[in-house]
Amino acid sequence: MTDTVPADLPADLLAALPADLRERAAALDAADPLARHRDRFARSEGLVAYLDGNSLGRPLAATRDRLASFVDGPWAGRLIRSWDEGWMDAPTELGDLLGRVALGAGPGQTVVADSTTVLLYKAARAALEARPDRRVVVADTENFPTDRFVLEGIAAERDLELRWITPDPEAGVTPEEVARAVGPDTALVLLSHIAYKSAYVADLPAITRLVHDAGALVLWDLCHSAGAVPLSLDADGVDLAVGCTYKYLNGGPGSPAFVYVAAGLQDQVRQPVQGWMGSADPFAMGPAYEPASGIRQMISGTPPIVGMLPMRDMLALLDEAGMPAVRTKSTALTGFVIDVADAYLPGVRVVSPRDPERRGSHVMLDHPDFRRVVAQAWERGVVPDFRPPQGLRVGLSPLSTSFTEVAVGLWVIRELLG
Ligand SMILES: Cc1ncc(COP(=O)(O)O)c(C=O)c1O
Repeated sequence: MTDTVPADLPADLLAALPADLRERAAALDAADPLARHRDRFARSEGLVAYLDGNSLGRPLAATRDRLASFVDGPWAGRLIRSWDEGWMDAPTELGDLLGRVALGAGPGQTVVADSTTVLLYKAARAALEARPDRRVVVADTENFPTDRFVLEGIAAERDLELRWITPDPEAGVTPEEVARAVGPDTALVLLSHIAYKSAYVADLPAITRLVHDAGALVLWDLCHSAGAVPLSLDADGVDLAVGCTYKYLNGGPGSPAFVYVAAGLQDQVRQPVQGWMGSADPFAMGPAYEPASGIRQMISGTPPIVGMLPMRDMLALLDEAGMPAVRTKSTALTGFVIDVADAYLPGVRVVSPRDPERRGSHVMLDHPDFRRVVAQAWERGVVPDFRPPQGLRVGLSPLSTSFTEVAVGLWVIRELLG
């Protein structure tokens, strides 16, 4: 065993692994150029294997100091003066950083605010303002509930037709399905880049082109992509995108979301939650709303400054590691999970795509006993998540997850399956 094998794994669990699996995991850890970053994450007492970084990323140890020094520094030390000393610009300054490190977005197009749900609403409504004569919105039945619910609400509010694509639940939306759904009546298409259940990676460049050919706009949900796979929103001509920051961007529970609006579209959109902080001159306290220019118009209320702190540590780490290296490790980790499931988990079916190009950073496994198994695994410090009806989702956050941790976690799941 090498010293890159996580020191925190219980010896008895390591010893329980078959020798070939233990050695393969150790060799992968030893060859992993990102392995050294794992120690930068805060330790979790009793944790054996964290397989849910796609739901809530682990905190970096540096975040503890950042939060503590924030209390005494800009908050207690400067109080209200901090609004002029950085806080007012934080949503766009952090948005630019996020855009550069993780989204392939030039400055002035990304802002951090609200939650994904609220930004989905604002972005979708803003896009509809840019296509006022069209009354069809396209979405898919396998998208995350909040995406579907928000669009249902908008369709009812604006008397629009919501046209559903019904993709294969074990894959995702294809360009052919989008081509069949869009037409001269289509205003907007909302899709997730990476499917939250299957991990299928949609063909973002091809679909974006198809939507544009129909004269419509596309809004991408990047919740399962940002910080896990390289994105090139500018180069791919994406119109709008939203995403959360508590998964692979390790922003912490309830950290604010982000929205991207392409520079060329910013003059045509108008978002519906007209608050003072997104107005042209918030402190003029004027009689009527006039939107700020540029991406600031997407802001509504007071920026969530405290919630923006932790993601800065992860963005610094992602910047250092580089998104291509993160993607390479993510693909290796998900491939390793599939190999272990095939070899050692009898009766378990791999739902996620076997083609690494089409697979995000988690793997969905399927077995009738998984509801019970996940509950029991949590008690043993092995933490994947359960998705009905019988899915176990193994989330692999590349910078905080080791191959040996994955092997041990899956071996515990094998034992629990009986
Ligand atoms: C694809 C997708 N969209 C949206 C959300 C959540 O939205 P919110 O951050 O508003 O809770 C999730 C949460 O897991 C998600 O997976």
